[in-house]
Amino acid sequence: MTREELRSLVRTVPDFPIAGIQFRDITTLIADSRGLASAVAHLADLASPDVAAVAGIEARGFIFGAALAMQLGTGFIPVRKAGKLPVETISEDYALEYGAATIEIDPTLVPQGGRVLLVDDLIATGGTALAAASLLRRAGGLVDTALFVIDLPELGGAAALRSAGVAADAVME
Ligand code: PRP
Ligand code: ADE
Repeated sequence: MTREELRSLVRTVPDFPIAGIQFRDITTLIADSRGLASAVAHLADLASPDVAAVAGIEARGFIFGAALAMQLGTGFIPVRKAGKLPVETISEDYALEYGAATIEIDPTLVPQGGRVLLVDDLIATGGTALAAASLLRRAGGLVDTALFVIDLPELGGAAALRSAGVAADAVME
Protein backbone atom coordinates (compact mmCIF):
# COMPACT_ATOMS: atom_id res chain seq x y z
CA MET A 1 0.00 0.00 0.00
CA THR A 2 1.11 3.56 -0.60
CA ARG A 3 1.65 5.96 2.28
CA GLU A 4 -1.49 7.79 1.11
CA GLU A 5 -3.55 4.59 1.28
CA LEU A 6 -2.19 3.92 4.76
CA ARG A 7 -3.05 7.45 5.87
CA SER A 8 -6.65 6.89 4.80
CA LEU A 9 -6.84 3.94 7.26
CA VAL A 10 -6.08 6.15 10.31
CA ARG A 11 -9.23 7.35 12.07
CA THR A 12 -9.27 10.82 13.63
CA VAL A 13 -11.44 11.13 16.74
CA PRO A 14 -12.06 14.67 18.07
CA ASP A 15 -11.85 15.44 21.80
CA PHE A 16 -10.30 12.14 22.96
CA PRO A 17 -9.10 11.56 25.65
CA ILE A 18 -9.69 15.21 26.60
CA ALA A 19 -11.31 18.21 24.88
CA GLY A 20 -9.20 19.78 22.15
CA ILE A 21 -7.18 16.67 21.19
CA GLN A 22 -7.53 15.28 17.66
CA PHE A 23 -6.82 11.65 18.46
CA ARG A 24 -5.15 9.68 15.63
CA ASP A 25 -6.50 6.17 16.09
CA ILE A 26 -4.39 3.42 14.50
CA THR A 27 -6.80 0.58 15.39
CA THR A 28 -8.52 1.00 12.03
CA LEU A 29 -5.15 0.69 10.27
CA ILE A 30 -4.03 -2.46 12.10
CA ALA A 31 -7.45 -4.12 11.72
CA ASP A 32 -7.17 -3.80 7.93
CA SER A 33 -5.98 -7.03 6.29
CA ARG A 34 -3.02 -5.29 4.63
CA GLY A 35 -2.59 -2.22 6.87
CA LEU A 36 -0.37 -3.62 9.60
CA ALA A 37 1.94 -5.50 7.21
CA SER A 38 2.25 -2.48 4.96
CA ALA A 39 3.00 -0.08 7.82
CA VAL A 40 5.72 -2.43 9.08
CA ALA A 41 7.18 -2.75 5.57
CA HIS A 42 7.39 1.06 5.34
CA LEU A 43 9.06 1.22 8.77
CA ALA A 44 11.59 -1.43 7.65
CA ASP A 45 12.40 0.71 4.57
CA LEU A 46 13.21 3.63 6.90
CA ALA A 47 15.34 1.59 9.31
CA SER A 48 19.08 2.20 9.50
CA PRO A 49 21.52 -0.69 9.04
CA ASP A 50 23.19 -2.53 11.90
CA VAL A 51 20.24 -2.47 14.27
CA ALA A 52 21.07 -4.59 17.32
CA ALA A 53 17.60 -4.42 18.87
CA VAL A 54 14.22 -2.73 18.41
CA ALA A 55 12.66 -1.03 21.43
CA GLY A 56 8.91 -0.33 21.39
CA ILE A 57 6.88 1.80 23.78
CA GLU A 58 3.79 0.38 25.54
CA ALA A 59 1.15 -0.07 24.32
CA ARG A 60 0.79 0.91 20.68
CA GLY A 61 4.54 0.83 20.09
CA PHE A 62 4.53 -2.88 20.97
CA ILE A 63 2.34 -3.68 17.95
CA PHE A 64 4.61 -2.07 15.37
CA GLY A 65 7.90 -2.57 17.23
CA ALA A 66 7.56 -6.32 17.73
CA ALA A 67 6.55 -6.84 14.10
CA LEU A 68 9.45 -4.67 12.91
CA ALA A 69 11.92 -6.62 15.09
CA MET A 70 10.79 -9.84 13.40
CA GLN A 71 11.17 -8.22 9.98
CA LEU A 72 14.70 -6.97 10.79
CA GLY A 73 15.72 -10.19 12.53
CA THR A 74 16.43 -8.58 15.91
CA GLY A 75 15.14 -8.97 19.42
CA PHE A 76 12.54 -6.66 20.96
CA ILE A 77 12.95 -4.59 24.13
CA PRO A 78 9.67 -3.53 25.79
CA VAL A 79 9.59 0.00 27.21
CA ARG A 80 6.80 -0.44 29.75
CA LYS A 81 4.50 1.81 31.72
CA ALA A 82 5.48 1.89 35.41
CA GLY A 83 4.92 -1.09 37.66
CA LYS A 84 4.70 -3.86 35.06
CA LEU A 85 8.21 -5.31 34.91
CA PRO A 86 9.03 -8.02 37.48
CA VAL A 87 12.70 -7.08 37.94
CA GLU A 88 14.79 -4.09 39.00
CA THR A 89 14.16 -1.26 36.52
CA ILE A 90 15.28 2.25 35.62
CA SER A 91 12.52 4.79 35.03
CA GLU A 92 11.76 8.26 33.65
CA ASP A 93 8.81 10.57 34.23
CA TYR A 94 7.56 12.57 31.26
CA ALA A 95 4.71 14.73 29.95
CA LEU A 96 2.74 13.97 26.80
CA GLU A 97 0.06 15.77 24.78
CA TYR A 98 -2.69 14.88 27.25
CA GLY A 99 -1.07 14.10 30.58
CA ALA A 100 1.96 12.69 32.37
CA ALA A 101 3.30 9.19 32.91
CA THR A 102 6.30 7.08 33.89
CA ILE A 103 8.03 4.46 31.74
CA GLU A 104 10.56 1.81 32.71
CA ILE A 105 12.95 -0.69 31.20
CA ASP A 106 14.95 -3.65 32.41
CA PRO A 107 18.47 -2.28 31.72
CA THR A 108 19.96 -5.78 31.40
CA LEU A 109 18.04 -6.28 28.12
CA VAL A 110 19.95 -3.48 26.34
CA PRO A 111 22.91 -4.54 24.13
CA GLN A 112 25.94 -2.58 25.35
CA GLY A 113 27.03 -0.10 22.66
CA GLY A 114 24.59 -1.65 20.18
CA ARG A 115 22.24 0.42 18.03
CA VAL A 116 18.75 0.33 19.55
CA LEU A 117 16.03 1.44 17.13
CA LEU A 118 13.21 3.17 18.98
CA VAL A 119 9.70 2.61 17.55
CA ASP A 120 6.26 3.97 18.42
CA ASP A 121 2.97 4.46 16.61
CA LEU A 122 2.99 8.26 16.92
CA ILE A 123 5.10 11.21 17.97
CA ALA A 124 3.36 14.36 19.22
CA THR A 125 5.29 16.46 21.79
CA GLY A 126 8.08 13.87 21.84
CA GLY A 127 7.94 13.57 25.63
CA THR A 128 7.43 9.83 25.53
CA ALA A 129 10.12 9.11 22.91
CA LEU A 130 12.66 11.41 24.63
CA ALA A 131 12.11 9.61 27.93
CA ALA A 132 12.50 6.22 26.21
CA ALA A 133 15.70 7.32 24.41
CA SER A 134 17.11 8.58 27.68
CA LEU A 135 16.38 5.26 29.43
CA LEU A 136 17.93 3.19 26.65
CA ARG A 137 21.03 5.41 26.65
CA ARG A 138 21.35 5.22 30.44
CA ALA A 139 21.33 1.43 30.02
CA GLY A 140 24.24 1.55 27.50
CA GLY A 141 22.42 1.50 24.16
CA LEU A 142 23.28 3.65 21.13
CA VAL A 143 20.07 5.50 20.26
CA ASP A 144 20.45 7.59 17.11
CA THR A 145 17.20 6.85 15.24
CA ALA A 146 13.52 6.67 16.10
CA LEU A 147 10.74 5.60 13.74
CA PHE A 148 7.03 6.34 13.94
CA VAL A 149 4.01 5.48 11.86
CA ILE A 150 2.60 9.01 12.41
CA ASP A 151 4.35 12.32 13.11
CA LEU A 152 2.36 15.36 14.24
CA PRO A 153 5.06 17.91 13.30
CA GLU A 154 3.17 20.95 14.62
CA LEU A 155 3.70 19.58 18.14
CA GLY A 156 7.48 19.66 17.74
CA GLY A 157 8.35 16.15 18.84
CA ALA A 158 10.61 15.22 15.93
CA ALA A 159 12.51 18.50 16.30
CA ALA A 160 12.97 17.89 20.03
CA LEU A 161 14.32 14.41 19.31
CA ARG A 162 16.75 15.83 16.75
CA SER A 163 18.02 18.30 19.37
CA ALA A 164 18.74 15.29 21.57
CA GLY A 165 20.74 13.62 18.79
CA VAL A 166 18.01 11.25 17.66
CA ALA A 167 17.00 11.38 13.98
CA ALA A 168 13.23 10.90 13.75
CA ASP A 169 11.42 9.61 10.68
CA ALA A 170 7.81 8.64 10.08
CA VAL A 171 5.66 6.88 7.51
CA MET A 172 3.12 9.76 7.42
CA GLU A 173 2.25 13.17 8.86
C1 PRP B 1 0.68 7.82 22.88
C2 PRP B 1 1.48 7.32 21.68
C3 PRP B 1 2.89 7.74 22.06
C4 PRP B 1 2.68 9.02 22.83
C5 PRP B 1 3.03 10.22 21.98
O1 PRP B 1 0.76 6.88 23.91
O2 PRP B 1 1.34 5.92 21.50
O3 PRP B 1 3.51 6.76 22.89
O4 PRP B 1 1.30 9.06 23.21
O5 PRP B 1 2.86 11.43 22.67
P1 PRP B 1 4.05 12.46 22.95
O6 PRP B 1 4.90 12.53 21.72
O7 PRP B 1 3.35 13.77 23.24
O8 PRP B 1 4.80 11.95 24.14
P2 PRP B 1 -0.17 6.82 25.20
O9 PRP B 1 0.61 7.34 26.37
O10 PRP B 1 -1.48 7.46 24.92
O11 PRP B 1 -0.31 5.26 25.49
P3 PRP B 1 -0.87 3.96 24.75
O12 PRP B 1 0.13 3.57 23.68
O13 PRP B 1 -0.87 2.99 25.87
O14 PRP B 1 -2.23 4.23 24.17
N1 ADE C 1 -0.51 10.58 21.59
C1 ADE C 1 -0.25 11.88 21.81
N2 ADE C 1 -1.01 12.68 21.06
C2 ADE C 1 -1.80 11.84 20.32
C3 ADE C 1 -2.81 12.06 19.33
N3 ADE C 1 -3.15 13.30 18.95
N4 ADE C 1 -3.41 10.98 18.79
C4 ADE C 1 -3.07 9.72 19.18
N5 ADE C 1 -2.13 9.47 20.10
C5 ADE C 1 -1.50 10.51 20.66
